[in-house]
Amino acid sequence: MSYSLARENRILNALLEVSRVLNSSFDLEKNLSRTMRVLGDFLEMERGSVFLYDQNTKELKIVAAQGLTKEQIDRGKYKIGEGIVGRVLEKGTPMVISNVGNEPLFMNKTGSRIGKNGISFLCVPIQFKGESIGVLSVDKIFKDRDITVDEDIRVLEIISSIIAQYVILWKHYRESEMERENLKLQLKGKYSLPNIIGNSDKMQEVFEAVHRVSDSKATVILYGESGTGKELIAKAIHYMSPRSKFPFIKFNCASIPEGLLESELFGHEKGAFTGAIIARKGRFELADKGTILLDEIGDLPLNLQPKILRVLQEKEFERVGGEKTIKVDVRLLAATSRNLEELVSKGKFREDLFYRLNVVPIFMPPLRERKEDISLLVEFFLKKFNRENNKDVTISPDAVRILTDYHWPGNVRELENTIERLIVMSASSVIRASDLPVTMKLPPYEDVLKKESLKTGIEDIEKSSILDALEKTGWVQAKAARLIGITPRQIGYKIKKYNLQNHQ
Ligand SMILES: Nc1ncnc2c1ncn2[C@@H]1O[C@H](COP(=O)(O)OP(=O)(O)OP(=O)(O)O)[C@@H](O)[C@H]1O
Ligand SMILES: [Mg+2]
Repeated sequence: MSYSLARENRILNALLEVSRVLNSSFDLEKNLSRTMRVLGDFLEMERGSVFLYDQNTKELKIVAAQGLTKEQIDRGKYKIGEGIVGRVLEKGTPMVISNVGNEPLFMNKTGSRIGKNGISFLCVPIQFKGESIGVLSVDKIFKDRDITVDEDIRVLEIISSIIAQYVILWKHYRESEMERENLKLQLKGKYSLPNIIGNSDKMQEVFEAVHRVSDSKATVILYGESGTGKELIAKAIHYMSPRSKFPFIKFNCASIPEGLLESELFGHEKGAFTGAIIARKGRFELADKGTILLDEIGDLPLNLQPKILRVLQEKEFERVGGEKTIKVDVRLLAATSRNLEELVSKGKFREDLFYRLNVVPIFMPPLRERKEDISLLVEFFLKKFNRENNKDVTISPDAVRILTDYHWPGNVRELENTIERLIVMSASSVIRASDLPVTMKLPPYEDVLKKESLKTGIEDIEKSSILDALEKTGWVQAKAARLIGITPRQIGYKIKKYNLQNHQ
């Protein structure tokens, strides 16, 4: 390979390496320092330094430098027009000092050049859209007489334009990061709702959404696992809205036999079906001027879905067995613990209704994803149940730690029930770790399930905690399920699985 080809190759490799380094992350100082090292390694350009102009101090400051100590870096500050670096920024054109020793302008502020002879100092502006935002400088030792300074300057100009783009991108990145941080800070603790606890970012987002939507008539859908507070938030939306003086009607689509759903929702006329001896208003009529919460909307049968859609769009319906069209002014809120989109894709939920409901979705985070709220909730429920039971029970830090580590499959409801039980049952004035159910001191159920060998052990524990709950609630399955924070269906399944029987 000829000498100039080899050199060209080195330049290309250097450029490739520089863009690789700068593409790796937004760590400005680190990546610019690495870039300066590339200049040294590939192009024999030593002591490369990047100066950036600081709008606030009106100074050029070194942000990265190869071969300089921290002290030297701190000393390297120039005003516009000051020294060579300052002039390059001001004029926006490159400068070369072929022998640093002979140049009175050369200030050597960093004090890094001991004997100055034999070094040429190359300095190019870093520009973006024609404006200088900084300066790139290197020392070149006269070894290679063949290479003209022009060539070095050209290479440096290419590198400085890559740096310019990187710096601009970095500035945008940093600004948006700062904005995000600011927003977060503003959000922190800013939103509150009476008797609803939540300082975590996720709950603060929920509260903010509640504040934003409560004034409007927008349909809101609340997604979340059982016990995360969907109903509580729905009520908050209603009571903060202009409708607060009118009824809030909650209707659980999963709790009523399918055949009765329509008449429950829309009412019926006298004689509409056997047993309909008098006409009756449905929930929509009862909720007139107020708010209706359709809970477990995912369980709404397909044949009723067009009727809900019609109420949403036309605000009208007919009672079962009735001819007359009834007009209502109702705000609809919906809640579900199921994945509606999945139901849509399986053909179990109408797409048009889904989109009509999904105008403002609010996602209730599970308790295990906002552990910072747990101790606040514990305090809140302690106060509540102490008051109700006329007690003054406190809780030890150890116990709070266990409650915080627990994975709360039944979310806030399970925590609430746990605290209530502990207060009611407590003989002493302090709840200690030893008072907590043994299931809370085990690793999370899911983690354990992964380890097959432990499976039977965990099954025993599960079995006995279900039995325990059933006994406490007189074998009312729904109550027992609630107590341990699982759904009635889940408990039904477990009772079958373990073949549990009431021997009392
Ligand atoms: N952030 C909270 N602060 C205080 N109490 C809460 C909070 N979230 C939930 N709760 C309490 O937890 C219990 C369960 O809440 P809620 O009934 O709203 O949950 P849900 O999501 O509707 O549950 P499900 O899907 O089982 O109906 C209620 O007693 C409620 O008051
Ligand atoms: Mg609910």
